[in-house]
Amino acid sequence: MVNEHQGNPQEQQKLALMEQNIKITKNMNNIKYKIAVMSGKGGVGKSTVAVNLAAALSKKGYKAGIMDADIHGPNVPKMMGVEEKKIEIEGNSLLPVKTDEGIAVMSMAFLLESHDSPIIWRGPQKTGAIREFLADVSWGNLDVLIIDNPPGTGDEPLTVLQTLPFLDGVVVVTTPQSVAIDDVEKSVNMARQLKIKIIGVIENMSGFVCPHCGEETPIFGQGGGEQMAKSMGIPFLGRLPIDPKAPTAPDEGSPMVVKHPESVLSKKFLEIVGKIEFEIEK
Ligand SMILES: Nc1ncnc2c1ncn2[C@@H]1O[C@H](COP(=O)(O)OP(=O)(O)O)[C@@H](O)[C@H]1O
Ligand SMILES: [Mg+2]
Repeated sequence: MVNEHQGNPQEQQKLALMEQNIKITKNMNNIKYKIAVMSGKGGVGKSTVAVNLAAALSKKGYKAGIMDADIHGPNVPKMMGVEEKKIEIEGNSLLPVKTDEGIAVMSMAFLLESHDSPIIWRGPQKTGAIREFLADVSWGNLDVLIIDNPPGTGDEPLTVLQTLPFLDGVVVVTTPQSVAIDDVEKSVNMARQLKIKIIGVIENMSGFVCPHCGEETPIFGQGGGEQMAKSMGIPFLGRLPIDPKAPTAPDEGSPMVVKHPESVLSKKFLEIVGKIEFEIEK
């Protein structure tokens, strides 16, 4: 039988997208929990939270993976200490890179010629790349996949949320000051519009404890994230202090919870991970 739509490029594209949706669903069905980390703002600590969450859950015995959906600033491989590794191709699938702890990592950074080549893509190309990560990467049977979203409410975060209607929830990261919070509220609203569960808000860079005198200084203010959570009626997961070791740990190739488990930041982080586990398992 001749299909009347055959040859119509729009119909073909629609069909290809539907086929890809089926692949994504099959691929994602092998993964028990899928959690996206998001924020309306850049530089608030999304990637830091994402890599530490994957590392902490892996330490707790979960089979974990992390997908870097930040096409322009793919920092995850560096933060996980696998920047120099290469992905392999098996049949039609890409095999994720594995960290020493066995965490599966996929990022646009692995597909770039060099680490400093910028990506100049338009929206549809970016959403295409993210959909391919979900459809064609052999994640295998994972307990949990953490998705590190780029900032804002643009094409890429929207693609992640729209393509993953079976997402278990989003963790929202903010810093305490109101300029960050205004932007973060927008991403909470985006998740709400798409009817995706908001696991909770983390207030990062919330105070600095002087290592010499022990006095706490609220450099970027304090409490703004908690207030926002309250006023928006979403769970507050906790505050993470500023720790000068947080930016250098990635240079040493490990997330804080692996490199400096004794730090206040790591301990606070593990408390938050406990709450996230509770929220997703319930
Ligand atoms: N709690 C913290 N204490 C100190 N530095 C932090 C903390 N959280 C994040 N950083 C640093 O801030 C910078 C931005 O964090 P990053 O996780 O890349 O943010 P985003 O992914 O939101 O753009 C990084 O250099 C990171 O190491
Ligand atoms: Mg980031």
